[in-house]
Amino acid sequence: MSAPTKTYTNGEVTIVWKPKTCIHSGVCVRGLPEVFQPKAKPWIKIEAASTEALIAQVKQCPSGALSYFMNAEAAQEQQQNLPEVEVSPNGPLIFYGKLLLKDQQGEQIIDRQKTAFCRCGASKRKPFCDGSHREIGFQA
Ligand code: SF4
Ligand code: FES
Repeated sequence: MSAPTKTYTNGEVTIVWKPKTCIHSGVCVRGLPEVFQPKAKPWIKIEAASTEALIAQVKQCPSGALSYFMNAEAAQEQQQNLPEVEVSPNGPLIFYGKLLLKDQQGEQIIDRQKTAFCRCGASKRKPFCDGSHREIGFQA
């Protein structure tokens, strides 16, 4: 199990703090006392300094207990890792990338760039699309 972390964000940057890694050197408290207030709750008042000042201070944490990430970059990264599925007009459902398929026959890993699944019900190779949607004039 990974060590517990606490996060504090101003909407632009998120500061991550790992309590177990903190060696209480006080570097952060001395550098930005308006932000790092060990006796307060929450102890990081993130709104009290600019994003640039916060990042500069976090980088000086000697133990690595403090780190940060930019919210926009994290959101973009998350989006890039999402599975991509496309509903092709009047045609199949197209899955992009590697996937694990579970059906009555069991499980199989499909490692193709694109896999087309039948959406019209007419395929003779279900669950895959075999082009039959064109023959039946499937519209959806
Ligand atoms: S600078 Fe890092 S190690 Fe030092 S008190 Fe702050 S969080 Fe803890
Ligand atoms: S969607 Fe292509 S055969 Fe059904």
